[in-house]
Amino acid sequence: MNDQTHYNLEICLPAGRYPVHLGPGLLGDAETWAGTLPPGKILIVSDSNVAPLYLDTVKQALGDRPAEILVLPAGETHKTVASWNQVMDKLVEIGALRDATLVALGGGVIGDLAGFAAATYMRGIRFVQAPTTLLAQVDASVGGKTAVNHPAGKNLVGAFHQPAAVIIDSETLNTLPLREYRAGLAEVVKYGVIRDPGFFEWLEQRVDALNEREVHVVLETIARCVRNKADVVAEDEKEHGVRALLNFGHTFAHALETLSGYNRYLHGEAVAIGMVVATTLSEQRGLCALGCATRIAGLLDALGLSLDWPAEISAEAAWEAMAMDKKALDSGLRLILAKGIGDAFVDQSSSQHDIVRAIETHTAATA
Ligand code: NAD
Ligand code: GLY
Repeated sequence: MNDQTHYNLEICLPAGRYPVHLGPGLLGDAETWAGTLPPGKILIVSDSNVAPLYLDTVKQALGDRPAEILVLPAGETHKTVASWNQVMDKLVEIGALRDATLVALGGGVIGDLAGFAAATYMRGIRFVQAPTTLLAQVDASVGGKTAVNHPAGKNLVGAFHQPAAVIIDSETLNTLPLREYRAGLAEVVKYGVIRDPGFFEWLEQRVDALNEREVHVVLETIARCVRNKADVVAEDEKEHGVRALLNFGHTFAHALETLSGYNRYLHGEAVAIGMVVATTLSEQRGLCALGCATRIAGLLDALGLSLDWPAEISAEAAWEAMAMDKKALDSGLRLILAKGIGDAFVDQSSSQHDIVRAIETHTAATA
């Protein structure tokens, strides 16, 4: 059994590298913060759920370093230009200069928003990601994608801006609602499907431990995801190629999220369904061995994710929404498909008929 509790990981990019510290209790670890915050003003941005739980811990760990605080309402609906503007106003109000550091304490919403604020304030200041959801720990906090939503589309306004460090305190998962935890597990499974078959198998063998949030298994899970993401981002920081594989299942998921008004599914829940449909499509087109979709569905189901396609969203309507997705290109809908577990690729040759058929097959299978 692996009883490692602390992992020092690293993201290496052409322009430099940054650490990902992972372990229980790191938010309260003065040494970790001291090594992360050079002189200059500090602004901690958090949300109304996370701040009451963890802000005091961070402030105590900062000791006599003064930190300004901005707490925003929680939730995806607040990942907006208006919230970004609030961060700008706060940075101006506290007199932040280019040596300031912005700390994002929260899930992917706060990470993306604070990251985009850091990317844009004075043409870019340092920021530190302190992710508190599983989804943000395994995906959103690493790799430098930052954004806010626009009424016309999710993440439509954004920038690539890498954090100076990522501090993952695995104990924050103790307070994470079960539904959010499970949504994060969908993104965990994604790494196995797109590039790491050994990890997929490892997850299959640890379903009970994952469901019970067994500390060492959760820590190793996060570490393996971060390593996978680090490899992808090192190879393709700005998504000109292999990074697109991280969008596996996402085009279907975005259609589900859009057509259900963004209030029915958590992102990871929609991604879980999207991954199974994408694999079904791959199988039906003869690109993937039969049985992969069933195997992926089996793992997601065992991890508590519902895979039902909603009866009120027709396959045709989903196709229309997918064709509007910003990842769609003129030369054909761009999808990530699977050749097998651990082997995904970018495809632009699926027809409307193929896509509709895959959704209909999945709908029938889950009805
Ligand atoms: P989130 O930030 O909304 O957090 C989910 C909920 O959990 C919120 O209500 C939050 O207040 C609460 N919460 C957070 N941590 C908690 C904790 N430890 N205990 C109790 N409650 C806690 O959602 P998310 O799933 O973390 O992130 C979703 C966002 O991430 C989306 O906007 C998505 O676009 C973005 N994302 C970005 C990337 C990227 O590469 N930048 C990747 C994937 C997702
Ligand atoms: N979550 C997708 C990416 O980071 O590219």
